[in-house]
Amino acid sequence: MAIWNSRFKKELDETALKFSSSIDIDGKLYSEDIEGSKAHVNMLMKQKIISIGDGKAIIKALDEIFNEIENGKLKFDWRKEDIHTLIEERLVAKIGEKGKRLHTARSRNDQVALDERLYIRKEIINLIKFITNFQKTLLKKAETNKETIIPGYTHLQRAQPILLAHHLLAYVSMLERDKERLNDSMKRVNISPLGAAALAGTTLNIDRNYSAKELKMNGIIENSLDAVSDRDVVIEVISACSIIMMHLSRFSEEIILWSSQEFSFALIDDSYSTGSSLMPQKKNPDIAELIRGKVGRVYGALMGVLTIMKSLPLAYNRDMQEDKFHLIEAIDTTKDCLDQSARLLSHTKYNKERFENELTGDLLLSTDIVDYLVNKNIPFRQAHHIVGALVAYCVAKKKKLNEITLEEYKNFSPKFDKKVFELLTPMASIRSKKSSGSTSPKEVEKQILKWGEIFK
Ligand code: ARG
Repeated sequence: MAIWNSRFKKELDETALKFSSSIDIDGKLYSEDIEGSKAHVNMLMKQKIISIGDGKAIIKALDEIFNEIENGKLKFDWRKEDIHTLIEERLVAKIGEKGKRLHTARSRNDQVALDERLYIRKEIINLIKFITNFQKTLLKKAETNKETIIPGYTHLQRAQPILLAHHLLAYVSMLERDKERLNDSMKRVNISPLGAAALAGTTLNIDRNYSAKELKMNGIIENSLDAVSDRDVVIEVISACSIIMMHLSRFSEEIILWSSQEFSFALIDDSYSTGSSLMPQKKNPDIAELIRGKVGRVYGALMGVLTIMKSLPLAYNRDMQEDKFHLIEAIDTTKDCLDQSARLLSHTKYNKERFENELTGDLLLSTDIVDYLVNKNIPFRQAHHIVGALVAYCVAKKKKLNEITLEEYKNFSPKFDKKVFELLTPMASIRSKKSSGSTSPKEVEKQILKWGEIFK
């Protein structure tokens, strides 16, 4: 019989019970559920709402139930509806009458809201660990590619040469903001809804701040209706995961592009590549593609919870049970993808020689020629115009910038002298960057040192 069944003349229909059971998902919150219950019992004892004897018996039994679940002895029976009910019924089975006092001044509504917050708190810390690990892998790769030159792109068209290290460090810095976002949300996550009861609070003399403190939470969600009604922190953490996944997807996309024969720049180790069942020559970047593809799960989760919550009247509605599916899916997927991104990167080599010669004299150096003319006191807009005409000339003649003569240069501006040829290697371009945070080796080294300090 269900815990709420005494006012009914019939049991819930078996298929309806199965349909409404959430234990296959919220079963993952068993340790948070027990942690929350213990804090609640400690508060009830302190407030003399239950006796010390009963409270201690409950806590001891809850610890045993925790071990039973850990050891696989207590099976998750879907007939128990949810993890809260399963644990409470097991408690009563173990210690009888005493166990029936656990749920005093509590509802599953504040209980589940608390469990989710404790779970998110734990997972924020885990996510941050996974991000840091990926950042360290990126930093290591950057350190070994301080001289590797690549074309930097805009619109996926060659723009200006940059160092691969600079490119990799851009991801380190994006991921740092991802961590900040998670850390910021902690102050909204780590507050207690416990004691809001079903929606209106309770007539019993509870101390909500005490149980919050027991759980190392920073205070309580004051309004009892708010405490049981909202799932904004669930949405917030999935949204932070969505942004992380967007970053991972861009990173994966580049590995996929760069490992193509057309780019021939990234070489994924055999242990991180897959083959084709039909075409013997194929070597595919499936892991990167899966990371890119799994973004769908996390964005889907975000849309899922936003949609569940829209239009729900206050306070609790059973619709809200569906949020945990999305929450757990988003967090597990994001952790997995962060882990695989780090592993994929450490199994990827970059062809250091791939671009250096090809980019010597390449049109992507034209911006440096514009700056050269600006240094000779030609107004920028005019310099841009001159070099544009020069580029058109090279395209027409099918020549690189280092394949035309000084005389030809002088036809475009008398200010050109033979020094212009010194600009026409990608490394010269990279070295000549002066602004802070640029791709110049000096600035890249600064970033490497900074991140090295941070991750020490
Ligand atoms: N399994 C429920 C959920 O996750 C727990 C809360 C049930 N509350 C209720 N009033 N039926 O939302």
